[in-house]
Amino acid sequence: MADTDTPSASSPAVPPATAPVNAPLRPVSTRAAERRRRAYPTLGDLRQGAKRRIPAFAFDYLDGNANDEHGFRRNIAALAAIEMIPRYSAEVDNISFETELFGRRYAAPFGVAPMGSPGLIWPGAERELAREAQRRNVPYVLASPTNATIEEIAPLAPDVFWFQLYRFPRNDNAMTDDLMRRARDAGAHVLVMTVDTPLGLKRPRDMRNGLSIRTPFRFGPWEIYQLLTSPYWVARVLERGIPQLGNFAPYAGDNPDRHATAQVMARENGGSHRWDEIARMRDLWKKPLVLKGILHPADAERAASLGIDGIVVSNHGGRNFDGAPATIDMLPAVVSAVGSKMTVLFDSGVRCGLDIVRALALGANAALVGRPFLYSLAAIGDDGPRYVIDMLLEELRGEFSHLGATAVADVAKAELRHPGAWRFASSSSHTGAS
Ligand code: FNR
Repeated sequence: MADTDTPSASSPAVPPATAPVNAPLRPVSTRAAERRRRAYPTLGDLRQGAKRRIPAFAFDYLDGNANDEHGFRRNIAALAAIEMIPRYSAEVDNISFETELFGRRYAAPFGVAPMGSPGLIWPGAERELAREAQRRNVPYVLASPTNATIEEIAPLAPDVFWFQLYRFPRNDNAMTDDLMRRARDAGAHVLVMTVDTPLGLKRPRDMRNGLSIRTPFRFGPWEIYQLLTSPYWVARVLERGIPQLGNFAPYAGDNPDRHATAQVMARENGGSHRWDEIARMRDLWKKPLVLKGILHPADAERAASLGIDGIVVSNHGGRNFDGAPATIDMLPAVVSAVGSKMTVLFDSGVRCGLDIVRALALGANAALVGRPFLYSLAAIGDDGPRYVIDMLLEELRGEFSHLGATAVADVAKAELRHPGAWRFASSSSHTGAS
């Protein structure tokens, strides 16, 4: 289903891919830019920078995963294992990354994944992400449990704003429906219902750090030491205030402070949107609807049969179920089941432009990138998202040129070897891998 709020009769049917420039870019001097490139030549270097600059409890919240973190490592290893045969001597001077998703044209085949509580990593993160996504014309998915509100962020990213919806089942889904209504009123182009968070998250790093939405965070000598060694982060918190789940303030009573808004999440949130609820939401939400967290082709087929417009093949970056296969290893089976019927997005483990190319080559329409954007904010501050987008575009340009590709569609023709791919006996009976 195409976005319904787009163009009037006089505008083109699909908005142009040129990034609307709503705010001037902050100038970065050549020397400063060069220093930055030397310090952070890869997204992995940004992760190291983040680790040095923010308190360990905040870094661990961002970097940590479920259980023993095998699932996270599988994502990274499975992507790295995919080989593609280059094709040389082609004309690759004019490469376009233009990508159409749900009836809108974006400037690149990647967007910003939804991430809850990003203010813990860098207060004001949502604003910087939304502004940069708008400038560069790439999708920005605001998560449900964010520090900034839907109403604050949507106007900063009017052309690229998507909203991610968790399940809040009490009172007949009253809060779920209200969040959906707020997203609709704010002009969200796409609603992304995350299904991969049923129950029982176990993130040992957060447990060790005493970080939980159920109990208040306590500052002892170790925590104070972390603050003393993170001056940039502390200065930012002093400037912007201690982050709270501001998006939940309307549900947090008369005094919607940090504690009350966290209690909303603890009390109201839970479970995976059920199929009957997804069908109901399909009736209520008239614009493009996406399910995030789909790994099994049969679930993808079920989503397609309900009229869902797209899925994000995702294992939440390895943060929820440590037993899940690497997302990239499920992608071909999902694409073969539903790729002709719906938009297939990919996330979990993208750490360079080449990973995006791998996902495109396996049939994804685009990728979402999560942690690297928050690493960048922690490592270099407000310019982080710009730096990540620049780096990914530069890397994509290089990788496309090696494949002889000048457009996103060309990448799907690459010859590749994918050792970990899950294969099913037949595309219609997804009962087991062969
Ligand atoms: C997430 N993710 C996530 N997903 C979602 O649907 N709703 C949410 O609120 C969150 N919150 C969240 C917080 C943090 C700190 C992280 C790192 C991730 C998952 C996210 O959308 C995405 O699936 C993964 O981050 C993708 O993996 P990479 O790119 O981080 O490896």
